[in-house]
Amino acid sequence: MQICRDKQAMRDWRQGQGRVALVPTMGALHDGHLSLVAQARRWLDARGGGRIVTSIFVNPTQFGPHEDLATYPRDEENDLGLLRQAGCDAVFLPAVDDIYRPGAQTAVEVTDLSRMLMGRLRPGHFRGVATVVTKLFNIVRPDAAAFGEKDYQQLAVIRQMVADLDVPVEILPVPTVREADGLAMSSRNRRLSPAQRAAAPVLNRALDRARQMVAEGAGLSAVRAELRRIIGAEPLAQIRSIDIRDAATLSRIATIQRPVVILLAVRFGDVLLIDQRVAHPK
Ligand code: PAJ
Repeated sequence: MQICRDKQAMRDWRQGQGRVALVPTMGALHDGHLSLVAQARRWLDARGGGRIVTSIFVNPTQFGPHEDLATYPRDEENDLGLLRQAGCDAVFLPAVDDIYRPGAQTAVEVTDLSRMLMGRLRPGHFRGVATVVTKLFNIVRPDAAAFGEKDYQQLAVIRQMVADLDVPVEILPVPTVREADGLAMSSRNRRLSPAQRAAAPVLNRALDRARQMVAEGAGLSAVRAELRRIIGAEPLAQIRSIDIRDAATLSRIATIQRPVVILLAVRFGDVLLIDQRVAHPK
């Protein structure tokens, strides 16, 4: 497995390769990330093979001033071992000042989609994501890139950016990988106390129930009330937002006529967890 610690090394390696699929991450890897690597491999295999590049870069521009950039978990040695086992071909591990040169003036912003939902809670977040993903695409020049459905709005932002700017990269969506008790895998889970960890599967339980209600024809306010009731019953959970939106556009809806996505952002202490579920009406 090739390790590229700056963009020149990455470009040099890329030069000699054919088809490439990219898996962008911020490290502290878990089985969710590895399922992106597996999806990238399936995509390449279906096209006669190719190389997988995983990037590990804790991107400062997507963290707000009061967010967890400084305490974001880092575990390079373990990450490299997992990627080797998963059959990754190259890892891009750039330093912050290699990616962000002083004097840069350009950013990529997907306007409406970035300002709603998590973008309201985290101003500037999706601008940082869209910008770094564009830069990663330009450095690695992948044919495809895998993104998790767990970060549903992020996936929507990336798809919109790629469509709007004619970016020649196929976006591969990957279903959320969960712990045995239903908690969506996340690098942030390791910051939960044992009691918070035990409480966190309430998100998945609430989403299961909400999906079932939508399938049975329940209305928006009934579903929302049930989500509040189930999550509210967990004393360690502080609800930051509950949204039920059009699954395709993330726009607001008045009634449930088409598939919806239910988006949760819930804090356990100072750890913000998100989860989502797509639900189809009767
Ligand atoms: P990070 O949080 O490390 O996630 C990297 C990728 O793994 C994202 O596409 C995310 O949706 C996916 N992922 C995380 N947990 C998952 C799970 N349980 N199941 C399936 N996929 C999962 O998302 C980012 O990094 C950054 O914003 C990034 C895109 C790298 C830009 O900096």
